[in-house]
Amino acid sequence: MIKVDISKIRDFVEWDAVKALEPEVKKALEMLEHGTGEGNDYIGWMDLASRTIASTLISDIKETAAVLRKECDVVVVAGIGGSYLGARAVIEAFGNSFIQLVNDGKNPQILFAGHNISEDYLFELTGYLKGRRFGVINISKSGTTTETALAFRLLKKQCEEERGKETARRVIVAITDAKRGAARTCADKEGYRSFIIPDNVGGRYSVLTPVGLLPIAVAGYDIEQLVRGAAVMEGMTSSAVAFEENLSAVYAAARNALYRKGKKIEILVNFQPKLHYFSEWWKQLYGESEGKDGKGIYPSSVDFSTDLHSMGQWIQQGERTIFETVISIDKVRHSVLVPQDEENLDGLNFLAGKHVDEVNKMAELGTQLAHVDGGVPNIRITVPELTEYWLGQLIYFFEKACGISGYLLGVNPFNQPGVEAYKKNMFALLDKPGYEEESKAIKARLKNQA
Ligand code: PA5
Repeated sequence: MIKVDISKIRDFVEWDAVKALEPEVKKALEMLEHGTGEGNDYIGWMDLASRTIASTLISDIKETAAVLRKECDVVVVAGIGGSYLGARAVIEAFGNSFIQLVNDGKNPQILFAGHNISEDYLFELTGYLKGRRFGVINISKSGTTTETALAFRLLKKQCEEERGKETARRVIVAITDAKRGAARTCADKEGYRSFIIPDNVGGRYSVLTPVGLLPIAVAGYDIEQLVRGAAVMEGMTSSAVAFEENLSAVYAAARNALYRKGKKIEILVNFQPKLHYFSEWWKQLYGESEGKDGKGIYPSSVDFSTDLHSMGQWIQQGERTIFETVISIDKVRHSVLVPQDEENLDGLNFLAGKHVDEVNKMAELGTQLAHVDGGVPNIRITVPELTEYWLGQLIYFFEKACGISGYLLGVNPFNQPGVEAYKKNMFALLDKPGYEEESKAIKARLKNQA
């Protein structure tokens, strides 16, 4: 069972202060469940997992995944933000650290594109794909995101030229809005297989829609177990569950109690490099949901013990405005024992016979004690094992806590108005049709600055 331990925040925030938020949490949960809060047209993720289990979506996705798996050695997933991070988080959590992104003979290699505008990245990607049997999953809810559209334009052309129009039609799949946007127009015109991103599910809450499920299924992982895990967590975090037992409620209340005491930065910590992209997904979920109206806990992340040798110093002794949330994986999948060495030149014989994970767990415990001593409150989330089922639970746990947290903070957790600012400037600078006035204004501003 997933556990949330907030006992190590008590030197900083008493349990009473967390418990005092119970009425606000209850109200937030009711707003989510009854759709009475701001952004209520984007709460389709709330019961998405249980609805998906009861539908044919999983088998439809598996069917399309089977086509891509049969016809491709490489599948490029094009998308950005919520249309990218969920899939990558899950695929990297389960993959072999060295062959996770390469074709291992059973599963196609999964590559990602459309999440940057780097010419060198696209040059290298298209170069790598030359002569390979590749397909593309083009993911964009709006269907107009520049980063993704740009990458897709290149990939579509290359796929058609190298594999022929007929094959390209089979190995290009679109995941987008039902009616709107260029990605929909293109999919319909070209006759691509396509999946719909539900209107009432925002990008960062969409990992359990085809946005995440299709790439994860193509990579060879069990999407049914992932969704089942999430569906179980739906029930475990509903307003019917007592506050103390409701994992998302306790986590949301604890982090907000800390925030109200001046702990403005939350660091998500892992001791497993496979969780690096899970943290990236979490940062997007919380950053876009909470950072608005001049408010919001700043979500950051570290990979330990790697980053104990870089950010560890700051965390131990820097400004005391931080708290840590550690994702701890109880049981690792493989076994490696430290060997005995007769000469013991490295002085490591005191570890001989131990599992490497025992050493890692002591690093984890030692770090927790040191950081709490150093003034860093510590929330610990324990996950039994890195499997599809438990990761599904963890995903939903964080989504629900994010919705609650946003309402506790007094913001709309489901919009992201701030993301538009850079786009407006970029389009004006690039003379995009429709941005003539903005172009004139921005060019005059730059001239005045020169
Ligand atoms: O969470 C969000 O809504 C955003 O991060 C979007 O997912 C991201 O901007 C990509 O948008 P789209 O799917 O429309 O291309």
